[in-house]
Amino acid sequence: MHPTLNFAVKAARRAGAIINRASDNLDALTVRHKSLNDLVSEVDRAAEDAIIETLKSVYPDHAILAEESGASGDSEYVWIIDPLDGTTNFLHGFPVYAVSIALAHKGRIQHGVVYDPVHNDLYTASRGSGAFLNDRRLRVSKRDKLIDCLIGTGFPFRVSAEIDAYTAMFKDLTTKTAGIRRPGAAALDLASVAAGRLDGFWEIGLSPWDMAAGTLLISEAGGLVGDLQGESSYMESGSIMAGNPKIFAQLLQVLQPHLTAKMKSGTNRPAAGLR
Ligand code: IPD
Ligand code: CA
Ligand code: CA
Repeated sequence: MHPTLNFAVKAARRAGAIINRASDNLDALTVRHKSLNDLVSEVDRAAEDAIIETLKSVYPDHAILAEESGASGDSEYVWIIDPLDGTTNFLHGFPVYAVSIALAHKGRIQHGVVYDPVHNDLYTASRGSGAFLNDRRLRVSKRDKLIDCLIGTGFPFRVSAEIDAYTAMFKDLTTKTAGIRRPGAAALDLASVAAGRLDGFWEIGLSPWDMAAGTLLISEAGGLVGDLQGESSYMESGSIMAGNPKIFAQLLQVLQPHLTAKMKSGTNRPAAGLR
């Protein structure tokens, strides 16, 4: 394993230990609403602090883009951190959540870790070196007909103006696939595409920290990632689709007629330049 990825893993495991400890006593947590349906607890913050402390001890000059504390530092190297992806699941004791950490150099994601502390599953990738679940090499699925496919998604609870277009996509895909799943942690959903458990995925309104590590896992597992027009601006727009190469094109065909102007342009400007 690349030494930099190793430090990211160490940071993710430290965060995972904090999350696991807190999961034993969920009633004791203080929860705050950042906005409608967007929750944060002291666990998110403690996990993020532990990650940043671990990374900064080795790379004091690197910049940070983290969900809870925002952007800091000025460097060609940027760590993109979601300390607890799937906070709503976590707070309900619904065991689908993860830690996501990626490192970009000059805007290009080089290393990514998604750590599922419930199952002690570690998903890792370094650009050009493949994607792994623990010690096992990951490949995307081989299914080639959309009607046979299991597709993941996330519901757009924040982008309420887009809900009609989203539900039209959902309706269309319900009849054109084997099934749709909404597990509730985007980083793990992307890891599931890399692992071939999901054949494809789409969501609107995501942030860079939800996507950074998971998208590298998918491309290193032989899959494709794009925005809802099949192009590369998902980090800026927050609209993302992914899948094995055969399903990517078929998913694109179903989603495209439903696109609104906002889904095309999106809102996540801070990530401009990441890929
Ligand atoms: C959320 C999860 C969820 C997705 C949301 C994200 P958070 O992340 O990834 O699956 O649908 O858009 O914000 O807030 O739990 O880190
Ligand atoms: Ca997240
Ligand atoms: Ca989070």
